Amino acid sequence: MIDLDGDWLPELSKDPLGTLVRMGEEHGDVVRFTLGDQRTILVSHPEHAQQVLTRPKTFIKGGRWSVMKPMLGEGLLMSNGERWLRDRRMIGPSLSRHQMARLVASMVQTTREEVDALVLAAREEQDVDLSAAMTRLTLKVVVRALFGDAIDAHIEAVDQAFARANSWLARRIWATDEENPARRARFDTAIQDLDDVVLGLIEARRASGERRDDLLDVLLHAKDADGVGLSSQELRDHAITLLLAGHETTANALTWSWYLLGQRPEMIDRLADEARAHGCIEGPDLTQSRQLDFAGRVFRESMRLYPPIWLLPRLATEPTHFDGVDVDSGDVLLVCPFILHRKAGLWDAPDQFDPDRFGPAADLAHPFAYIPFGGGARTCVGRHFSLLEGRVILAMLAARLEILPLHDGELKPLPLLTLRPRHRVRVRLRERL
Ligand code: HEM
Repeated sequence: MIDLDGDWLPELSKDPLGTLVRMGEEHGDVVRFTLGDQRTILVSHPEHAQQVLTRPKTFIKGGRWSVMKPMLGEGLLMSNGERWLRDRRMIGPSLSRHQMARLVASMVQTTREEVDALVLAAREEQDVDLSAAMTRLTLKVVVRALFGDAIDAHIEAVDQAFARANSWLARRIWATDEENPARRARFDTAIQDLDDVVLGLIEARRASGERRDDLLDVLLHAKDADGVGLSSQELRDHAITLLLAGHETTANALTWSWYLLGQRPEMIDRLADEARAHGCIEGPDLTQSRQLDFAGRVFRESMRLYPPIWLLPRLATEPTHFDGVDVDSGDVLLVCPFILHRKAGLWDAPDQFDPDRFGPAADLAHPFAYIPFGGGARTCVGRHFSLLEGRVILAMLAARLEILPLHDGELKPLPLLTLRPRHRVRVRLRERL
């Protein structure tokens, strides 16, 4: 374990990802440093990542990341302890693998609508901002999974509100200055806008007593072990958490996938051939979607190189010790998937985009060497949903469109709440006939 002197907050505030990557490269697997007044330990060995992520009572959610509470409340991403366990048991089953049969039709329908719009843009020879298009599409997919089509009229407002709220949050996590009241007020307004839409839909559904085939219906009727359901405020926290966690992540993974594919035209042809062979011009059914092996490999490999959730922070609740690492109560532990996913020794040619490393014979160096969805009890509850969605969207786009990058050179990542491209990703679309 290496101890670094000084306060590293100003450095991380300027360049959080680059600073952590350099720390890992220059000082080894365990680096201890101070962040403001917080003792912080960056662990970059998969064994240590496993120790931290699989002990949710000792290593909880909290610390600087609590700035997200006004938005996410006691939703699954933020809550801890008994509360988290109760809610995870109530919500988890609705997103399990065998629930995907229920969710795939709406996912495919929404993707078809957006691909139709992109085909029109291609015919009119318009250039497209790919990251904006992927964000709109994944937001629409998850809001419809949650609320059915009741929310269609509000999608634009929700998209805007998330964009405003997220830019403030990302800045506050690493902030060294006092909160700016005007910016804070804009953030509060964005949260109010989200609340108006989400609470409005929850109350309307409760009042109507109508049963529908969406996740809100499941949440409204879920009961804990004592037969108690969720209050409107709890439903609001879960809904906003699922909307946030469920769209920006997938949108970034898709945008990075196209960026990486842009450098390998032969892979785009392979993706298109597979997509067309499995019904992706119209849209696949569940069985066909599960046969989209290459699309799945591309999606996984892009999340290796650019994990949408690039940092997993935890707060120690008690003194503990593992493998030479001494932890005090109140220490922050940082697990960085970006570092693990590119670590020499864990991967062959780690910087190379090679989807086939996730082929049937894939053999990870360690189960925690690849953690785009986290690990342990708090693993992403939406992982089956997003793996299905990623495959379906990549394949349906490839089946009908050629996506040609308009930029040269490397696209740098911007580590906000999620890892997004630093600049717009402008592309030219050509209809595949
Ligand atoms: C490519 C897409 C996605 C990625 C990379 C991703 C990644 C992650 C990661 C890394 C975590 C763990 C965070 C931690 O341990 O601190 C997580 C948790 C979570 N994700 Fe996802 N996610 C994705 C899609 C989704 C979707 C589609 C949903 C919902 C529909 C979702 C809902 C959640 C929730 C509610 C949690 C908190 C789970 C808990 O603590 O019990 N995510 N996600």
